[in-house]
Amino acid sequence: MSLYKKHFLKMLDLSKEDVEEYLRVAALLKAKKKAGEAHDVLRGKNIALLFEKTSTRTRCAFEVAAADLGMHAVYLDPKSSQLGKKESIADTAKVLGRMFDAIEYRGYGQEIVEEIARESGVPTFNGLTNESHPTQILADLLTILEEKGDLNGLTLAYYGDARYNMGNSLMVGAAKMGMNFTACCPAKYFPDPALIEKCREIAKETGSVLRFETDPKKGSEGADAVYTDVWVSMGEPAEVWAERIEDLSPYRVTADVMARAKAGAIFLHCLPAFHDLGTEIGREIYDKFGLTEMEVSDEVFLSAQSKVFDEAENRLHTIKAVIALALCDGV
Ligand code: CP
Ligand code: NVA
Repeated sequence: MSLYKKHFLKMLDLSKEDVEEYLRVAALLKAKKKAGEAHDVLRGKNIALLFEKTSTRTRCAFEVAAADLGMHAVYLDPKSSQLGKKESIADTAKVLGRMFDAIEYRGYGQEIVEEIARESGVPTFNGLTNESHPTQILADLLTILEEKGDLNGLTLAYYGDARYNMGNSLMVGAAKMGMNFTACCPAKYFPDPALIEKCREIAKETGSVLRFETDPKKGSEGADAVYTDVWVSMGEPAEVWAERIEDLSPYRVTADVMARAKAGAIFLHCLPAFHDLGTEIGREIYDKFGLTEMEVSDEVFLSAQSKVFDEAENRLHTIKAVIALALCDGV
């Protein structure tokens, strides 16, 4: 198995062994960084970072990872490039493939990042699409591994909109790694039945148990990690807030949800999170709907069980592993 020259597009493309290799190299590169050991093994290489949606963690993780590896990174967005408006994705991908050794893309449909991968001829990495967020899953798995020492047989409970990028990718990631996965939300927010079917097939091989639960009091039963994400994702219209608040408020991760999980369960969130009134959108929602916290209570977010900032740091180490394994033959 070699990940050299491979794209990184979605969790479904990866084997359990691939994921283990990304996590092994991430842990190795994290240890080197902590020890102050240079690991600039990709000196002279260049990476293009295409962002059609905003980002703090993913952009910074790619830029810092590239710098630590000795690479040069160029950030492009639709305002400062021809992307989308004056030049097609296929033509842009072909041009970038002539100048860069790798490309990262964050944006809308999964088909766009798949097209860039096909047309560019260089390793292409998915930095988030509507359907999937695979680099986030590696950081989540590394965080769980660091906290629990193993992944196999653990239970991950996901509260919130399980149809979108995070719910989809976590379900696939859990099934691949032999972890049990519970989606806890109203039935209309369960992942796409075709994806559930694929995960059930994977789960038969790995022993993972998939559960779809509508009772917020039951979703976290037996969970080693409880996960949530924003109720409205980037690119969705503001009009959906009212319906999401109504549907998903009973599924806020509260101290009660955590108390029903296993003793020692951890709380995870890909971030950014609406847990207080410290954001513009959070204050707008408060003015309109009277909520002071949304998908997670401030109490849980700030609790000792919350590992969200370790998880955010692990975006750097895992993204560095993705770049290094794609561009170095042997890490
Ligand atoms: N978790 C995550 O992808 O964060 P950003 O949107 O800040 O990149
Ligand atoms: N579901 C969120 C994830 C952000 C990291 C979004 O797509 O906005």
